[in-house]
Amino acid sequence: MTTRVTTRDIANMKIRGEKVPMVTAYDYTAAKLADEAGIPVVLVGDSLGMVMLGYDSTIPVTMEDMLHHVKAVARGANRSMIVGDLPFMAYQVDASQALRNSARMLQGGAHAVKLEGGERVAETTRRIIECGIPVLGHIGLTPQSINQFGGYKIQGKQKEEAVQLLRDAVALEEAGAFAVVLELVPSPLSKIITQKLSIPTIGIGAGPHCDGQVQVLHDMLGLYTDFVPKHTRQYAKLAETISDALTSYASDVKDGSFPTDKESFDMDEKALEGLETTSR
Ligand code: KIV
Repeated sequence: MTTRVTTRDIANMKIRGEKVPMVTAYDYTAAKLADEAGIPVVLVGDSLGMVMLGYDSTIPVTMEDMLHHVKAVARGANRSMIVGDLPFMAYQVDASQALRNSARMLQGGAHAVKLEGGERVAETTRRIIECGIPVLGHIGLTPQSINQFGGYKIQGKQKEEAVQLLRDAVALEEAGAFAVVLELVPSPLSKIITQKLSIPTIGIGAGPHCDGQVQVLHDMLGLYTDFVPKHTRQYAKLAETISDALTSYASDVKDGSFPTDKESFDMDEKALEGLETTSR
């Protein structure tokens, strides 16, 4: 039997100084591949709004969208811990809404939830954790507030903003979050936050000092190319590979070279006898 990665394992990784790799996944196949690659934490991120559903932000993503993908990921990952992202307006109304939707994530197969915000969601975070649901925090550039930020900009460059980010990080740790994502935060500030917290920091565009890193699968595989963030390292160029494969397939179908006999199924001569002349 495979043992599932737990929040305790993630905490121990920080204690041992072992970095935490994390990646997003939105479907069965990707989750299975991430799981088999030994990725300890898989995030079903609301970034699926862009890379799977074609929206231009995460704002339109609903709980129903999220649950659809969480369930698929849960069928693919046997060992990785699955974190379900609470989408826009699924936790901001009040604590009971946040609890209900967190519970739905766990019933769909997630083992933890993620929500965006620092001090302002600390109480909600505490309430969710009290119900036995682990929470991953998310501060810095929080994409659900993109209309307030006015774009995907680095956060915490000015002293006041940096102080607020530190307060946010501490508030989440005090509320009981098992780790916190730092998105688009300057490296020197991520370093300070990482040293200050006893829980792991997971960076995305937050430099090398974080305790772990998270990347959007479609970015790191070179599959989503509408926009390639500066912090992405493309480990593959799947958009090119897939495009070449599809072009070759279309050409083979058109010129009749696909399928061959090897890719087809034969049948008994006897069963064929007389069929060509049978009208009914
Ligand atoms: O939705 C997502 O993929 C995320 C990561 C970028 C952290 O929130």
